[in-house]
Amino acid sequence: MLVSLVFTAVTAACVSATGMEPQAVGPEGTLLATVYKSCKNKGDVALTFDDGPYLYLEDISNALVAAGAHGTFFFNGNNFRCIYNLAESVKYAHAHGHMIGSHTYAHKDLTTLTSDQIHNEMWLVEQALQRIIGVTPAFMRPPYGLYNDLVRQVSHVRNQSLVIWDFDSGDSTGSSVTSSEALYAAVASKNPSNVLAVNHETSETTAHQVLPYAISTLKAAGYKLVTVAECLGLPAYQHVGTPGTPDPNTWKC
Ligand SMILES: *[C@@H]1O[C@H](CO)[C@@H](O)[C@H](O)[C@H]1NC(C)=O
Repeated sequence: MLVSLVFTAVTAACVSATGMEPQAVGPEGTLLATVYKSCKNKGDVALTFDDGPYLYLEDISNALVAAGAHGTFFFNGNNFRCIYNLAESVKYAHAHGHMIGSHTYAHKDLTTLTSDQIHNEMWLVEQALQRIIGVTPAFMRPPYGLYNDLVRQVSHVRNQSLVIWDFDSGDSTGSSVTSSEALYAAVASKNPSNVLAVNHETSETTAHQVLPYAISTLKAAGYKLVTVAECLGLPAYQHVGTPGTPDPNTWKC
């Protein structure tokens, strides 16, 4: 016990490769991925969109770009849709300057899985993003925001940090347009240093009603709408390469 405490204290003082966060250490000295729950930079809002690619991606992108803003899409591989069937939408989001992160493959609760199963849920999305847009994501949002030390351990091995949020528009838990808009109005008037907001790309009312309201309200309050990587001052991707050539035999769910 004493030994492990000393070990933790010593290694916890080490600084991770990003130079921003102390390296988190779990039981028996395992290295754990950093978990970001908030932005770092003052005046930044990172609007994030989970569960796609889906039908409203281009509308969301267009609303952001028209306002001089960028957002972050945490994509699943096979949730509402198979990512390969919406490869053009994935390319569209990436080409319009939004950050692409992983929301893992099939939107499972990662805390119920073995190490091998977590690796598989993460790898299948990395493979799809490497094939479609040539990038390996540096950030992963765990489905339902649920994680444990094993999830952090596997994410560390895969060189991905976890991203949670400090503001929830409520669009996955049945909030009405009026109440989601009221939440955005409240956070803007409370004027925190920065905001990391979760929304869902699969909500038609988010795309067409709440998002335009959120953009204008947050901009009027003086916030800059940026990607998660920008609001943390970190790279969005571990690696940027060349996309592959579509192959119907392998590019499928
Ligand atoms: C890990 O990811 C960072 C970006 O977050 C990147 O700079 C670094 O090269 C990656 N390391 C490896 C071994 O791929």
